[in-house]
Amino acid sequence: MSGDRISIRLVINGESVAREVEPRLNLVDFLREELGLTGTRWSCEHGVCGACTVLIDGSLARGCLVFAAQLDGVRVETIEGLSRSGAIADLQAAFQLHNAVQCGFCSAGMLLSAETLLRENQAPSRADIRQYLSGNYCRCTGYHAIIDAVEEVAKARAAKGGRP
Ligand code: FES
Ligand code: FES
Repeated sequence: MSGDRISIRLVINGESVAREVEPRLNLVDFLREELGLTGTRWSCEHGVCGACTVLIDGSLARGCLVFAAQLDGVRVETIEGLSRSGAIADLQAAFQLHNAVQCGFCSAGMLLSAETLLRENQAPSRADIRQYLSGNYCRCTGYHAIIDAVEEVAKARAAKGGRP
């Protein structure tokens, strides 16, 4: 810690990152402004809309509700990391195919939530998918196309023994 800044060291998308951060800097601003990882969005800043969804140590988290200063020693994954690794290539292709991306504002959070669902449940029903994604708001698609895309990927992965 120097002055009122706090030293953190964490792993983001597989890369080690060390910074000194303001105590009140939230994770979304840290990702976007300090690291240029602009795929993570913010909108409500109240933990409601899901635009800021990331993975912290493998669990879904709202980036707007977490201070960067709390993250010393953790592992964060964002849409950039999952995209780069190819881990969600099938989900991204299905979203495109089903027109589940319109303005795209919700898409990063929606994809991270969908991927987490499919890791936890290899055979989700449509109701399961709806329930799991209910914390991610979409103002454009009416949700049906998103549910269709996730359902299709769940079935395709199940046919391959759960692998993407
Ligand atoms: S910006 Fe975090 S939940 Fe809406
Ligand atoms: S595609 Fe526009 S908010 Fe979901």
